Amino acid sequence: MTDFAELLRTYRGQVDAALDRWLPSADDEPQKLHQAMRYMTLGEGKRLRPVLVYAAGTAVGVESVTLDAPAAAVELIHTYSLVHDDLPAMDDDDLRRGKPTCHRAFDEATAVLVGDALQVLAFEIMARDEKLVVDAAMRVRMIAELAVASGTAGMAGGQAIDLAAMGRELDLAALERMHRMKTGALIGASVRLGALAGNPDSATLGALTQYADCIGLAFQIRDDILDDEGDAALLGKTPGADRARDKPTYTSMLGLDTARRRAGELHLKALDLLQPFGPEADTLREISAYIVERQH
Ligand code: IPE
Ligand code: IPE
Ligand code: MG
Ligand code: MG
Ligand code: MG
Repeated sequence: MTDFAELLRTYRGQVDAALDRWLPSADDEPQKLHQAMRYMTLGEGKRLRPVLVYAAGTAVGVESVTLDAPAAAVELIHTYSLVHDDLPAMDDDDLRRGKPTCHRAFDEATAVLVGDALQVLAFEIMARDEKLVVDAAMRVRMIAELAVASGTAGMAGGQAIDLAAMGRELDLAALERMHRMKTGALIGASVRLGALAGNPDSATLGALTQYADCIGLAFQIRDDILDDEGDAALLGKTPGADRARDKPTYTSMLGLDTARRRAGELHLKALDLLQPFGPEADTLREISAYIVERQH
């Protein structure tokens, strides 16, 4: 476990250094936009998605030093999704990563632009980074996968369903579909981008994709549980926000015990899907456990 904690710190440091290099300087015009992009991206996030890129790469024999571009790209898309998720037009939250949300620290227009700019920076990095050693066809495939996971079939579509479902009941299938889209898709892309860099055979990619599907759904279930019972100081965001806005969540629909049980089942299924792998997939195994146990 100590090794895992140490590895997480190393991967976080690695992606933060890459993000710091690629983000525009806060001294350059337009300063306010650049400051806000850095304020949000380099804040206290867990960097789970970049860690998944590195860990999935390791599982298929890719050196993590070559994976900074996809690692940074998924974190940029994720950070953009958080900035927009917190806007008054969406979840209207005041606290994110232990600090005032982007529109609170700056203003709403800046928060909209931060999202726009972080999103396209992700694709610029994927198109340009020379340390990513894949051929042009694979690079295009990876860019397309990131786009699909971020778009209406993934994150943006899931967020639209989330907003439309406020104050309404969803059946279990619809709830899980929403979770898989708004959160699972980008987690899936993180695993797949790391793996694709190693040109895996279809059985390997298939197993990792199914693993990602399990942990992606488990991740949002745990997020729903933490919104219900989490601690603001640990969470870095305001708990109880889902209930206050009458959001359909795993806990509101099925209760805490069922939510915990479902997350536990998904963790065991994720481990099962990694059976064909040896110790090179140990970090992926640890991440699955971490997702269902995490306190923030
Ligand atoms: C929060 O994601 C939003 C969801 C998709 C549930 P994280 O819990 O990964 O947020 P950070 O990056 O650690 O702040
Ligand atoms: C957010 O889900 C998912 C995305 C940002 C795509 P939530 O709205 O539950 O995330 P938090 O709880 O605000 O972090
Ligand atoms: Mg939301
Ligand atoms: Mg939210
Ligand atoms: Mg939440």
